[in-house]
Amino acid sequence: MPMIIDGKAIAEKVKAQCRESIAALKSRGITPGLAVVIIGDDPASHAYVRSKVRTCEELGLHSLKIQKPSETSQEQLLEIIAELNADEAIDGILVQSPPPPHIDEGAVVRAIDPAKDVDGFHPLNVAKLAMDDDSGFVPCTPFGCQRLLIEHGIETSGARVVVLGRSMIVGKPMALLMMRNGIGGNATVTVAHSRTRDLASVTREADILIAAIGKPHLVTADHVKDGATVIDVGINRVVDSTTKSGYRLVGDVDFDAVAPKCSAITPVPGGVGPMTIAMLMANTIKSSQLRHRATS
Ligand code: GUN
Repeated sequence: MPMIIDGKAIAEKVKAQCRESIAALKSRGITPGLAVVIIGDDPASHAYVRSKVRTCEELGLHSLKIQKPSETSQEQLLEIIAELNADEAIDGILVQSPPPPHIDEGAVVRAIDPAKDVDGFHPLNVAKLAMDDDSGFVPCTPFGCQRLLIEHGIETSGARVVVLGRSMIVGKPMALLMMRNGIGGNATVTVAHSRTRDLASVTREADILIAAIGKPHLVTADHVKDGATVIDVGINRVVDSTTKSGYRLVGDVDFDAVAPKCSAITPVPGGVGPMTIAMLMANTIKSSQLRHRATS
């Protein structure tokens, strides 16, 4: 059987490091602060936001949750962002994605001060990632996936990595991170997506397959070569009348079918999910450290 990559345990390790950094900042009278903005009533987005705020409380970070109805206008949202940009107590600003359809997400991302863009979605931070400039912020989910590989000693240098999915939140930054020069990088990267022809023949080339396409159980045993490492970013809600909530979470990977072929694999839940939040905390602390270095 493969090694099951324990995202919860590694997230705890990242959070322990965060606690040390927070203690050092607090000894200087500084408490890092994260603002999370959520527009609308999507239940999955609300669940993610609750986890983010709960983790801030657990670590002793200042958190501010701004919850607005779906009818909130673009202008009102931009005003909220302008206030958060100017708020000295806030080091990180995150607008939960996806917003309602009338919101121009690109304009919202561009309005966030890049020095507080702990999601790493602002064009300046995307450019810094592409340019191997460590002063920016790396998007939390890909950053967490890379950390899982590093912590488990899974060699990426020279490895063939296939990223399945091309979103701005995961696929694109994941590909940039894996090809970056440095630890956890130096891979030969292919990005596959919904239009890729003969997908299985592409994904079977992967030493490391990172699935972030948002389709429950799309990746089957036929998509994976023997001995591959599989990182499953998918968190899909599927109807399940046997559970209390009426749904259950499944990944993009058919775990039961794929796991026997792998050398290592992440479960869903308990794999990538906890890492996303841990890396958000780490990015918020980095922002606080950089902002206070700049002013002191
Ligand atoms: N929605 C799903 N993942 C993310 C994320 O990492 N950041 C934000 N802002 N929204 C998301």
